[in-house]
This record gives sequence, C-alpha cells and structure tokens, in this order.
Amino acid sequence: MDNQKSIQEQMQELNSQLEHHNRAYHELDAPEISDAEYDALLRRLKDLEEAYPHLADPDSASQRVGGQALPQFAQVEHPVALLSLDNAFSPAEVLAFIKRVEKNGTLQPAFVVEQKMDGLSVALTYRRGRLENAATRGDGLTGENITANIRTLACLPHQLPDALPLLVLRGEVYMSKEAFRRLNQEREEAGESLFANPRNAAAGSLRQLDPTVTAQRKLDIFIYEVLLAEDRTFTRHSEILQYLAEQGLPVNPEYFCSGDPEQILAYIALWEEKRQHLPYETDGMVLKLENISSRAGLGATSKFPRWAIAYKFPAEEGRTRLLDIQVGVGRTGALTPLALLEPVRLAGSLISRATLHNEDMIRDKDIRIGDQVIIHKAGDVIPEIVRPLIDLRTGEEQVFQMPKDCPECGSRTRREEGQAAWYCTNENCPARLMEQIAHFVSKKAMNIEGLGPAIVKMLLDAGLLYDLADIYALQHEDLAALPGLGEKSATNLLSAIEASKSLSPARLLFGLGIRHVGERAAKTLVGHFGNIDLLGVVSPEELTAIPEIGDKIAQSIVEYFTNEENIQRLNRLQNYGLTLQEELRAPSQEGQLQGKTFVITGTLPGISREEAKKMIEVAGGKVSGSVSKNTDYLLAGEKAGSKLEKAAALGIEVIDWPGLESVLAGANEE
Ligand code: IVH
Repeated sequence: MDNQKSIQEQMQELNSQLEHHNRAYHELDAPEISDAEYDALLRRLKDLEEAYPHLADPDSASQRVGGQALPQFAQVEHPVALLSLDNAFSPAEVLAFIKRVEKNGTLQPAFVVEQKMDGLSVALTYRRGRLENAATRGDGLTGENITANIRTLACLPHQLPDALPLLVLRGEVYMSKEAFRRLNQEREEAGESLFANPRNAAAGSLRQLDPTVTAQRKLDIFIYEVLLAEDRTFTRHSEILQYLAEQGLPVNPEYFCSGDPEQILAYIALWEEKRQHLPYETDGMVLKLENISSRAGLGATSKFPRWAIAYKFPAEEGRTRLLDIQVGVGRTGALTPLALLEPVRLAGSLISRATLHNEDMIRDKDIRIGDQVIIHKAGDVIPEIVRPLIDLRTGEEQVFQMPKDCPECGSRTRREEGQAAWYCTNENCPARLMEQIAHFVSKKAMNIEGLGPAIVKMLLDAGLLYDLADIYALQHEDLAALPGLGEKSATNLLSAIEASKSLSPARLLFGLGIRHVGERAAKTLVGHFGNIDLLGVVSPEELTAIPEIGDKIAQSIVEYFTNEENIQRLNRLQNYGLTLQEELRAPSQEGQLQGKTFVITGTLPGISREEAKKMIEVAGGKVSGSVSKNTDYLLAGEKAGSKLEKAAALGIEVIDWPGLESVLAGANEE
C-alpha cells in the first residue's frame, strides 16, 4: 500500500498546482493548461481525497471548484447562504450526531433521511410562481447565473400553481446513469473525450455558455430545500417535500421520516445495499431534522448547519493488477482500449475489464501494463481505473502505445488533430463492418432481431456480407445453410429484414452510422429536409443553419456524401425498397416550435431577448431579425415599435412572452 506521507504530499502538490491554474484562469485570464488537463489534475486530487478522506485538506481546491464563477457567467449573490453538510462516515458517527441534536434540547428528534444526490447544488428563485433566476452554489455566497441553462431542464416547471411572492429553492442537478451512458457513447463515436462519471457530465453540461448544448444533454433535478418562502410557513421538513411535490417540482420520492435511531440506521443500510439499482448515482444519505422550528436553536457553523448531516457511503474502490490493454475497433473505425484486469470483486460484481477511454486518459493517468491499479465502480456504470499505484511498481511495467496498425485488419491507424481517438484508415475493415452492422440492426435503428454478432461473423466469413446493404440481398437458403440457424430462424430473420424496409428514414439515417449523426441529429435532419438524398447536395452552411446541427455534424455529412461508396450504398438500399424520403412532413416530435419562424420585439418581462431566442431555438423554432411574410409569430414585449405595425399589416399573429412560455411549458409536461 502507498505510505500515507506520499499520498499527503501528492495531495498538497495537486492542490498548489490547481490553485495556480485557478488564478491563471480566473484572475489573470491567461490559462496555461486546457480545461481537460485541469480536469485531469482535479480528478486525480478528488480520487485521492475519496480514497483517503481523512487526509483531505478541508480547504482543498476540490472544495472550491466552480467556487468562483467563471468570468463569462454573471455572478449572482445568493439571498441566503447555501451551506454545505458535515459528514459522517460510520453508523456510530450518525448516532453521535443524533445524540448531539438531542443534547441541544430537541427531545426524541425525528429526522427525514434523503438520498444524497451526486450532482451539483443550485438555487432557484421563483417570483410570484414564475421561475426567475437560477444559480450554481459557487462558494455558497455567490454563484453563477445559469438561468438560461436551467430553463432547458424538461422536468422543471417554469410556473408554479401557488404564486408566492418569493420562493427560493435549493436542489441538485444530476445526470441519470442512462443519460450518461448514452452521452459518452455518442462522444466516443464522435472521437470526443469522455466524461469520467455522471457528476462530471452534469457539471460539464450545466456550465455551458451556450444553453442549446445543455438542452441536448439530458439533465434532471431534485429539489430538497426551501431557502426562503414569503407568505408561507412550514413546520416540518416532510411537509416541505410534500408541498414542493404538489407544486409539480421534482422531489426524490425515496425518503423516510423517523425518530427511531435504529430505524434510521436500517434505512441507510438498506440503501447502501440497494443504491446501485437507482437510476442515478448517490454518494450517501442526508439526515435532516424534521422539526423546522428546532433548527434555529441548533444553528450553524460557517460551513454547515448543525441540524443536518451527510452519511457518506464508503467508496466502491478496489485494487487489482492491469494484465493487459486490448484494442478493439468500433463502427466508426475508432480504436478503443480496454483494460484486462485480474478479476476482483467490487460493488457486488466480479470485475475483469475496465474502460480506458482513449490514449490521452491512459497517458494523463500514467497507467502502465502490469501496474497495480485502483479501480472504481459505481452502480451499473462501467468500472474505470482511477490511478496506478506508482509506489508499487517493480520496473517491469510497460508503457502502452496505441497500435500503428489496426489490430483487426493490419491497415495503418491515424489520429486526427483535435480528436481524442485513433482510427483504422481502412473503410472496409471487417471489425468496422461488424460494428456497423451491429449498429444498423440495433433496436433504435433498423431493429432487425436475430442478426446478432455470431451470425454476422458467419455471414462475413461465408462471403455473403461485404457491406451493410448486402443484408437486403440475403436469401433464405444462404441463411438456412448457416450452422445452427435452421429453416425457422432463417424465415424469422428474413421477415425482420423485410419489416425493416418500411421504417422511417430517420432510423435509416441514424443506422448508417455517419460520424456525429446520433439519433437526435438524424431526426432533426430528416425533419428538416424530408429526404436523406438531399443531404448529398446541401452545403455545410445550410446544415449549420439548422438549430442543433453544428460544424462537426455538417462536416461529417458532407464527407460521407462525397464518398462514392456511400452513395452507391444508399442507391442500393433504395433499390431494395427502403424509404429515404419521409412521406408526410408531420411536425417533428422533437421541438414544439419546429418549423416556426419568430421575430422578437420590445422588452420581454423577466427574460432577455437573447435568452428568449435560445429557448425558441431549443424548441426547434427559428428567430429572424425582421418581419416578413415568412414570419409565423411576432413575439412582442413592452414598447414594441414598428414591427408590431408591420406584423398587423401582414396579418401575422402577435403573442406575448407568457403566452409563448405556456406553450413551451405545456409541451414539456407531455
Ligand atoms: S441539503 C443546509 N440534501 O451534498 C442543507 N444536500 O455534501 C444543505 N446534496 O452541497 C444541503 N443531496 O450539493 C442536501 N438531499 C440532499 C442532498 C444534498 C445532495 C449535496 C449538496 C450539498 C452537498 C454537501
């Protein structure tokens, strides 16, 4: 094991490096390292602190992350300090906390025990029931104004039924395990760096200067505190949670109220066991004194209240040896390193593989083959290597190199500038084709059941598949002749292939596996152009003019359609009877303002024109500068001028902000 001195030294070293870069970034506006490099340092520090919490500096740089607002976000002073929570690391410490509360004058205190969400704390201000402002916790006194980003959260109402003059709430923004998995999958396919865990992904998604990016990331929130409520008093914490839920706010239903310490400990133990089945990550449980009026008597330190405590779950970390690093080839040709580990039991399962993401991560963490490594597994998230134990090196360890030749087909590999991944340069790499077909037949694409990897491999070996379009040329006798398939399975497979022909062109476009074109982009593109063929003739500018379609997608589409093989494939697919053209240009399900053009004029109540524009674009609408016959709506605030007259002359519908907002909120609730 590492000796404690060297761990502490490492922590101090990381802390001073982080402090230095923090200043360079925030105060001097002259960053010396990239955000990713900064995050890597910070992650290393946090991993150490998680593994050795007793050695962590209470004033560590990790406590201040995001503590100071990024210069680009406006700073917001919180009306009430957003305190942190004191920690308990054992049931005995929880009991000691309960005793302390009792000793301070609350007889047989009852507590609400909540999930401790592993996300980001935010404060939300509702004025007369309307969401007015949202801010990150920051240093507890001042945070960053993230109102535009918070407004993109689908689960959060913008208007509450109970229009209290002022209601300030606190909650946790998080990303579900499923949304995290998908986001990383998309990023991996796009050759982008991956987020290490759902918390980092949530943080990265929330602190985006462009709220349209936030809107594409599936973020959620749970509200757990009322910081201020004008004209409304609460006597119990469970009453608060109930009130919030009645207001349509997302409240985590997994909580429990009891005055019996044994029951409280049993509830904590229950979730310590069950938490991996929750759809989101938690890192502990929070005990809060149920009786609100008793809280004042207990008071708070400068950092945390004395009426609440966080019980932190032990970190799910273990130690094992990295036996080897295997490199696979994905459907875009990206090389994916995979850690092969000496099997070790962790978080209820036997772990023998872990993700290594990409070359940079292996280098940044200085992971070498043969190293003793600390691995981390949280719930059903794929295990990852936290760090190697450098002190335990024998000198036999080997530095990993990404192969210069594809491990599957031997072609050269290449890493493009600005990309995290290496790629096999052979478009027809069999491994790539295997993965392409697996993607093409998957549920969300062409949904062809029965064409699993074993069968695809046999078809490739038999020379029956050279391209994914060959799927539609397969004959009954080809399939029935495959070992272990038989007549019945062959018939079923052929009918699944046949049925796929009538699926939507958006599924087909997604199934083609064009780099960066995920499910959502495919829907947007087909919704916009109505025909996959048209993508071959549009310019990158026309593509990027569509909300949600960025440079990378545009460039990738243009590249795809300049490749003759891809055009041939589409022609073949069309000849086999697949539909490239959308039959009915029904309004897209994606955004309720899809296809609508807005012009904004005048001063809108409580929202800037820029924010309103973003919200319209997020919902699929367009915003143009001047009123014309192509305008669908004029969004008019106070002191609207000549545009109002022009709209009236052209017979264009005029709406106000509350009107539009209720359209947006209404559709969100569906
Ligand atoms: S209550 C004074 N409740 O944990 C009350 N916090 O380690 C303070 N957290 O900064 C917050 N789940 O970001 C509260 N159910 C929950 C929570 C929770 C997660 C976070 C919060 C806080 C941190 C302290």
